[in-house]
Amino acid sequence: MADLPAHRPGLHRRLRRLRATEGLRLAVADVTIPRHCLIYPIFVSDNQQTTPVASMPGVQQWPVAAALEQMRQWIDLGLTSFLLFGVTPGPRKNATGDYALSPDCPVNRLLALAREADLPATLIADACFCEYTDHGHCGILTADAADPMVVDNDRTLEQLGRLAVAQAKAGAEIIAPSGMMDGGVAAIRAALDAAGFAGTAIMGYSVKYCSSFYGPFREAGGCTLEHSADRPTHRRAYQMDYRRSREWRSELEADIAEGADIVMVKPALCYLDVIRQVRDACCLPVAAYQVSGEYAMLHAASQRGWLDLKQTALESTYAIRRAGADLVISYFAPQILQWRMAE
Ligand code: PBG
Repeated sequence: MADLPAHRPGLHRRLRRLRATEGLRLAVADVTIPRHCLIYPIFVSDNQQTTPVASMPGVQQWPVAAALEQMRQWIDLGLTSFLLFGVTPGPRKNATGDYALSPDCPVNRLLALAREADLPATLIADACFCEYTDHGHCGILTADAADPMVVDNDRTLEQLGRLAVAQAKAGAEIIAPSGMMDGGVAAIRAALDAAGFAGTAIMGYSVKYCSSFYGPFREAGGCTLEHSADRPTHRRAYQMDYRRSREWRSELEADIAEGADIVMVKPALCYLDVIRQVRDACCLPVAAYQVSGEYAMLHAASQRGWLDLKQTALESTYAIRRAGADLVISYFAPQILQWRMAE
């Protein structure tokens, strides 16, 4: 081994020079969180009351009219895009999730109201059935209850096409299918084009892992998987396995070939390596979804005084941007803007 060079006092690099003041630190910071890159997920509900989500402090299920009022406030704060999820009580759910297609379901009503009010925001509709099926899976079940595939992919595609058209009609500018059906983007593109919505964009949940960090969302969206003796109570037969390190490329290629306008990686913090690889592998805008569990764990630790909420939320969001996400879907979105204003 070569000898180490002799230490020459003063001749080492002084990287600390540019860390001396906040002005210098800001001047050389190349990762930013512009407000336009933030997408705020909201839960709009059939219930009459605004209901807090216990596992996600600050997150509520909003009745439609209240959601519209709230959106005006978030827009005043600087938010520009919203991802809409629907919450509906048991009686309106069925095996095929038909209520999602109705102009009366909360998401479609909110879209229509927002359009009527000319709300200056980009509205993205979640296109999945788990909030509307009585069994809680993301699509129509296979005829054989013991079928390990659980969800009938191709029957669900037909229903997905109808859902996208209903949401585009109601006023969605972007359709975001979160159910991980193979061919989902193609089915939605074909249905939208045939119905005269060639201008409606698709944000593919291209690389979505089967993650336990979705736990709190299931409470927020009212889509816990019903316990069943003969049916899996997990989504491993359609969401991705995080033990595979290269499968993202196949999912990404499929969504791009099918016509996705934006691709997504979900969750975010445990998958920064995947965000970076997806960013480098394509030139479409890449979104990353910082999911409910990522939000809940920072809140839980900060409530105990173990972590600083603001600092850890910002550090996480900067990490997601540094990994290469153009768009960040985050429950912290309004707070990030509030924290910034307070600075
Ligand atoms: C439903 C859906 C889920 C999320 C978004 N859409 C749950 C799931 O796939 O089980 C999770 C979002 C979050 O955890 O914040 N298809």
